Amino acid sequence: MNKHLLSINDLSRDEIESILTTAAKDFLELSKRDIKKVPTLRGRTVIDLFYEKSTRTSTSFELAGKRLSADVINVKAESSAVGKGESLKDTVLTLNAYNPDIIVIRHPHVGAPAFVARYTDAHVINAGDGKGGHPTQCLLDIFSLKQEYGELEGLKVAIVGDILHSRVARSNIAGFRKMGMEVTLVAPPSLLPRGVEALGADIAHGLDALADVDVVYLLRMQQERHADAGLMPSLREYIARYCVGRRHLGKGQRVLHPGPINRGVEIDAELADSPENLILQQVEAGLAVRMAIMYRIIVDAGADQAAAEGERDAAEAAEAGPEIKNIRAVG
Ligand code: CP
Repeated sequence: MNKHLLSINDLSRDEIESILTTAAKDFLELSKRDIKKVPTLRGRTVIDLFYEKSTRTSTSFELAGKRLSADVINVKAESSAVGKGESLKDTVLTLNAYNPDIIVIRHPHVGAPAFVARYTDAHVINAGDGKGGHPTQCLLDIFSLKQEYGELEGLKVAIVGDILHSRVARSNIAGFRKMGMEVTLVAPPSLLPRGVEALGADIAHGLDALADVDVVYLLRMQQERHADAGLMPSLREYIARYCVGRRHLGKGQRVLHPGPINRGVEIDAELADSPENLILQQVEAGLAVRMAIMYRIIVDAGADQAAAEGERDAAEAAEAGPEIKNIRAVG
């Protein structure tokens, strides 16, 4: 794994598989035990820095850090010195003075996690940057699909709703394609980013497209990002054409949603309460997957460092001759 997790594109298919295996084997069952804690990150410091509202991502990262025995600090922009005009750079420099091991950042601006990575020695994890990406959501979604379907190759997924404003859609199109899934985007033309076909997804404009897929992935209508841009004639019209209920589903189809859900907008109340949706399984997966990400980002970095030191020692030993080899072996 790279030093940071800024985008789902930072991970190869093998690395994704490996993180998901760690989550399934080592962390999923932990939540069901009486003692839900392991010493894996004891002595490490994790800072969760959130500049946007969050329930699922912030609680799961906090809990993940605590269950791995790290010291976890939560910084919410609205209750921090950001409200006194402190810049992102100065906030990160300040927090970096505590020598954190991991900084988890959510920010309304695309690219903020990469910016943070310039001003800290810590591993940076993108917990959602504006319309940019949400790689840990993508990983937990792939995990949830794997738990439900087993084989992902050839699985057909429709992503439905406000694709234009969705960082989840951007990460998931890339991540799902990487895992061999076929993706169809279902939305009115005004809620699709220009040129989105280039990401390798098919496009449809009506819910009749759901008949051809195995999985329906719903997105929230992000009205707070619309800024009255006139992207829809009216919310009522959107609901009439795009609100998904059980009547739209075929046999065996499952529904995912990253949350928060808006009942009666993109998902009707009956479907929101139905076992056909995997929404709470996604939340549960989020904890195990985020534990696996934090564990792997630290452990892989340690392994890389040890390998680099080993290579350096070997090169030095080869240069110095047999005596130094023996000294290092004893030392
Ligand atoms: N899915 C997701 O990112 O939810 P939160 O905004 O509650 O973190």
